[in-house]
Parts: sequence; C-alpha cells; structure tokens
Amino acid sequence: MSLFISIEGGDGAGKSTQADLLMTRLKASGIDALLVHEPGGTDFGEQVRRLVKGDVERSPMSELFLFEAARAQLVQDVIRPALAADRVVVTDRYADSSVAYQGFGRGLDLADVRALNHAATGGLMPDATVLLEITPDNALGRVNGTDGSTGRSDDPTQERFEREPIEFHLRVAEGFGTLATEEPGRWFVVDASARPEGVADKVWSIVSNLLTLHGISGNV
Ligand code: TYD
Repeated sequence: MSLFISIEGGDGAGKSTQADLLMTRLKASGIDALLVHEPGGTDFGEQVRRLVKGDVERSPMSELFLFEAARAQLVQDVIRPALAADRVVVTDRYADSSVAYQGFGRGLDLADVRALNHAATGGLMPDATVLLEITPDNALGRVNGTDGSTGRSDDPTQERFEREPIEFHLRVAEGFGTLATEEPGRWFVVDASARPEGVADKVWSIVSNLLTLHGISGNV
C-alpha cells in the first residue's frame, strides 16, 4: 500500500525541518519513502521555482498557472510513479498551498483555484495533510530574524512571499485554518510554535498511526 502525505503551513512554520525529521524517522523504521518539495522536484519545476520566487511582475492568475504547471509535471513524473510503486510520498507543500496563497492570499476565486488544482493533479489529493500552525508574526519573526534567531532579513535575496505584508500572511493562515476545518478527516493540525523536536514527535505520532491504518510496516 502507498501513502501520500502533504505538509502545509505559512512561511517560517518549519515545514522543511519537519519534513526532513519525518523522513529520518521513516527511513529508520525501514520504510521506503520519498520526499518532494513544491514548487520543484523536476527540471521543469525547478525553473518555475526560480521564476515564482523571483521579482518578475505577474498577475495572481499567471502566478497560479506557474505553480500548477510545476505541480502537473511533479505529479506525472514523480508522485504518481512513486505511489504506483507502493512507496510513501511526503510532499512539502501541495495543491492546498495554491488555495491558501493564491486563493485566500491573493484573492483569486477559490473555485478557479480548485479547478486548476484538479486539472494539474488529475484529482490526486493526499491521504493526509499535516498543517504546521503558527501565527504569522511569530513565523515571520523566524524568517526575518526579529525573534533573535538566525533569520534572513539581511539577505538581499529575501524571497517574494516572505516580503509580502503581514496582512497577506494572515489571510494565508486563515485559508489553511479554513481548509483544515472544512475537511477534518484529512487534516491534522499541529502547533508549530513549540521546539522542533516536540513538533516532530507529534508529526510522527500522526504518521505512525496512518502507516498502521494503511497496513504499512518497515523492514527493521
Ligand atoms: P519555498 O522556499 O519553498 O517556501 P517554503 O519553504 O515556505 O515552502 O517557496 C515557495 C513559496 O511559494 C512559499 O512562499 C509559498 C509559495 N507558494 C504559493 O504561493 N503557492 C503554491 O501553490 C505553492 C506550492 C507555494
């Protein structure tokens, strides 16, 4: 049996750290798992990634199509084949990010975003989605270093989305919260303001239950 898990959250929620920690635990349990990251994961997707994270002016709808283009390639070339081979696939962001960022954040019609998500993925949605929830000012404090941690505020390449005003990030956070409430069977909300090790323990307890439910066991 395969299992498809996405990790979602606003900028600075710690998704990449948690995705790496989850992969370490999956591998230590002898489970054949693959980690991918949106946008990216294919040659085409990596080029799109540079474009969307850069400063080239674009309309919200053009931006949505870019994310969908990268997603379509990733689903076709990487995610579907891995699931067909009965692997566990963990993705750092997926279609829900487009609903939260381009829908709630940029104000695009949610039905349009969902329709394009469906076209890009062929309707493939994760079995489970872990939402790393943290207030945007807390999360952006991490990103920008205003909380005293090593941030990225003096980085001249600080990225387009991280430079959006706090109101944008509040709308994105509200979007993720709304999605989680609408589909409680798929979403698992984890408080991401705690220490990374504590967050990782919570994520692992969710994922290990899912593995059991899907009849997946490791070879160690
Ligand atoms: P990335 O460096 O991957 O950010 P993060 O580590 O926070 O995931 O950059 C991806 C950016 O693109 C991030 O700010 C969220 C944004 N994004 C969208 O706006 N829509 C989408 O559909 C996706 C996948 C990402």
